[in-house]
Amino acid sequence: MRNRVEILHGVNLDTLGRRDPAQYGSHSLTELEVRVRRFAVDLGLEPSFAQTNHEGEYCELLHRAGETSDGLVLNPGAWTHYSYAIRDALEVAALPAIEVHISAVDDREEWRRSSVIEDICVGRVQGRGVDGYRDALELLRKALGL
Ligand code: DQA
Repeated sequence: MRNRVEILHGVNLDTLGRRDPAQYGSHSLTELEVRVRRFAVDLGLEPSFAQTNHEGEYCELLHRAGETSDGLVLNPGAWTHYSYAIRDALEVAALPAIEVHISAVDDREEWRRSSVIEDICVGRVQGRGVDGYRDALELLRKALGL
């Protein structure tokens, strides 16, 4: 069954719980992952998680993703808005991917409105907090034909 999904968090997402709660809520990344794991299992998906603050490492996670995963949920943090290296690495991964943001990036500063990965993802969720990951997993499940 093609149900293995990898949830990849990028730069500064390890500091959830210390960032502006009005944008990101008050949960830590570990707490978020516990909830997202539950969403995934409820949807019949097999989740795995990774986070890094190093752009090259995020690229390498994407290079290897095809060996262990069938689809991706990506929150690259600020890299979303400018990292063509991550865009290229996502093309190498060649897996269906959903872009997700906890905060409503489209309603914040101008620079957060652009995404360099949006057009190569099969879906995008923003501004729904932790529940946005459930939306993203549902979109990914459909994209995987499950
Ligand atoms: C974010 C939004 C980005 O603009 C920001 O740089 C982040 C988190 C979000 O989940 O809302 O680090 O990706």
